[in-house]
Amino acid sequence: MIFMAEKPSSKKSSAFPEFYKKAPAERLALVKEFAGLNDEEAKALGNWGALGEATAKGMIENTVGTTALPLGFATNFLINGKDFLVPFALEEPSVVAAASNAAKLCRPSGGFRCECDDSVMIGQMQFVNARSALAAVKKVNAARDKLRVMANECDKTMCERGGGCRDVRARALETQRGEMLIVEIFVDVRDAMGANAVNSMCERLAPGIAELVGGEARLRIISNLATRRLARAKAVWKARDLEASFAAAGSDFKLSGKEIVERILDGWAFAAADAHRACTHNKGIMNGVDAVCVACGQDWRAMEAGAHAYASLSGKYSPLTRFEATDKGDLVGFIEIPVQVGIVGGASRTHPTARACLKVLGVASGREFGEVLAAVGLAQNFAALRALATEGINKGHMALHARNIAILAGAAGDEIELVASRLVDAKCVKVDKARELLEQIRG
Ligand code: MEV
Repeated sequence: MIFMAEKPSSKKSSAFPEFYKKAPAERLALVKEFAGLNDEEAKALGNWGALGEATAKGMIENTVGTTALPLGFATNFLINGKDFLVPFALEEPSVVAAASNAAKLCRPSGGFRCECDDSVMIGQMQFVNARSALAAVKKVNAARDKLRVMANECDKTMCERGGGCRDVRARALETQRGEMLIVEIFVDVRDAMGANAVNSMCERLAPGIAELVGGEARLRIISNLATRRLARAKAVWKARDLEASFAAAGSDFKLSGKEIVERILDGWAFAAADAHRACTHNKGIMNGVDAVCVACGQDWRAMEAGAHAYASLSGKYSPLTRFEATDKGDLVGFIEIPVQVGIVGGASRTHPTARACLKVLGVASGREFGEVLAAVGLAQNFAALRALATEGINKGHMALHARNIAILAGAAGDEIELVASRLVDAKCVKVDKARELLEQIRG
């Protein structure tokens, strides 16, 4: 039934004529009326924050304001011998603390060793109705050099920076709608994320290729499965540091370092064997990766899509990390993840907060940015496995979660900490309980 055309059930219509032409304040007034918002709620939508009205309006359509997320910095990240303060923007408690703690615990063994491939993105062009896909493949492959030069005429600046189209490859693809010709370009986008450059090259090349093969050009777009742009990180957590880490954090949880390593390996093996667990395992990795991307004005949807597609590339959805025990019984972790981020262009330049975050992060290139993301992903995953395999995840979440619950129950000022700590002591972090405690406190 859901596929049948239905008459609108409500009297309210969201078909605002020329909504896009209106000023943000007018749009906000319409939204307010549509949803019956009070003044305070409308004010929360019409906030321009650090972005400012003019910039925000230039970024997306139908703008009424901006939204805010907490911004924090993860500490202790030692990557290839260099220290980084890493910006995280997200709403989830414990993520920043977990990353900082994981980075701290591997510092004694040198922190993270990372590397990143050249920034090569793949652009795809689809051609249909070619007389023979096989003959078309031959023709395109024979014209590769000419096509590469044509692509590079699109982006002289990128070529001057040492980037540009490196190769062009054609292949026939069997699909549900018949055989197609797929032409791919491999473009070194240097310090950019690269979508605009690659899409422009695809659009530029497609008409000539269509003529060459006697077919029709259809889709011309970047692939977010960035298999030519992989970042890798490795870190060692010493068993003795793992053993000492609970007491150092004020916990009375006790296990030998060897046992903690074994438990983490069991946790990883669960993800390696089971897609339902692997999905959550990788979600934990992306908690950190996405948060850094959001803070730095990156296309985190591209990172997400690429990471999960890469996790499925073998045909079986798998963890993006691997953990092993070293000869000495310490824990060693690895990650390999496709990265598609830039330090030039896009919101990384136009968004003042993103610009400032990138300045604090201080990466010298897109590749170094990729290395930081790999380190963050590995740190986040280590922290989640360590918590899950030992004390459980709730303990870490509780303190901040309890503060949020206290605020939701109406606590203000000093009351927040007081209610939060009593909620944790009572092992019952619920709004009802927080209200009860608040009443007690207020006498
Ligand atoms: C929660 O946001 C992330 C975790 O579920 C990750 C994991 O299970 O590995 C804790």
